[in-house]
Amino acid sequence: MENDDVIESPRRRGRPRIHASQRVRWRKAQAARRLRLREAAAKKKKVRALFSSQRVEWSTPPELVESVLNRLGISSFCLDPASAGAGGTVPAFRHFTKSDDGLQQEWLGNHIWLNPPYGRRIKEWIRKAIQEWQSGRAKVLVLLVPARTDASWWHELLAVGGQPEFLRGRLRFLDESGQRQDVAPFASVLVWLRPHVGDQIDPRP
Ligand SMILES: C[S@@+](CC[C@H](N)C(=O)[O-])C[C@H]1O[C@@H](n2cnc3c(N)ncnc32)[C@H](O)[C@@H]1O
Repeated sequence: MENDDVIESPRRRGRPRIHASQRVRWRKAQAARRLRLREAAAKKKKVRALFSSQRVEWSTPPELVESVLNRLGISSFCLDPASAGAGGTVPAFRHFTKSDDGLQQEWLGNHIWLNPPYGRRIKEWIRKAIQEWQSGRAKVLVLLVPARTDASWWHELLAVGGQPEFLRGRLRFLDESGQRQDVAPFASVLVWLRPHVGDQIDPRP
């Protein structure tokens, strides 16, 4: 074999000798790898920005809303206390938006949907939900929350009888313009707060 296309850089002494064509291929592969890494990092950064705690508009995917409504045998919730307004994906007779401040209102109704803002104030929303449910004003409360099983609010929710239903896979929420977002970087769970029947919580539906 001819040896004139074998290149050995002085910096590479000690490494196996490779042909020039192999080196070109290797360099191309390295460049492609660097590009993939840069793209993955940029995507991760974008997803983080989209799902940062400052961001509050994570509209529930309509198919999930529909499946919960179907299971409840209704076409609309009585109330959505944390809402972007009537144009969102959650049909409800009443919506409390940021300007109403759902945390300051009474939550009255047989079927209430809560997908709270996911920032640091989530704990206040969970406590408010528990309070409204225990008062009897809210009969059935369905919460959509991130599956943060180490959070104190999670344990508070379970301690009062919240029934978790872990969702398979990850959701793709909608942004304020109704556009489907990238897959959420966390798992989600529905937690059902149902009425009591005697000492027990009604397991239906
Ligand atoms: C995670 S999004 C859920 C939207 C909608 N409920 C859904 O499930 O698609 C939380 C919503 O709560 C609204 N929000 C934030 N602070 C609020 C407040 N104090 N009172 C009522 N709504 C609020 C946000 O504008 C946002 O639309």
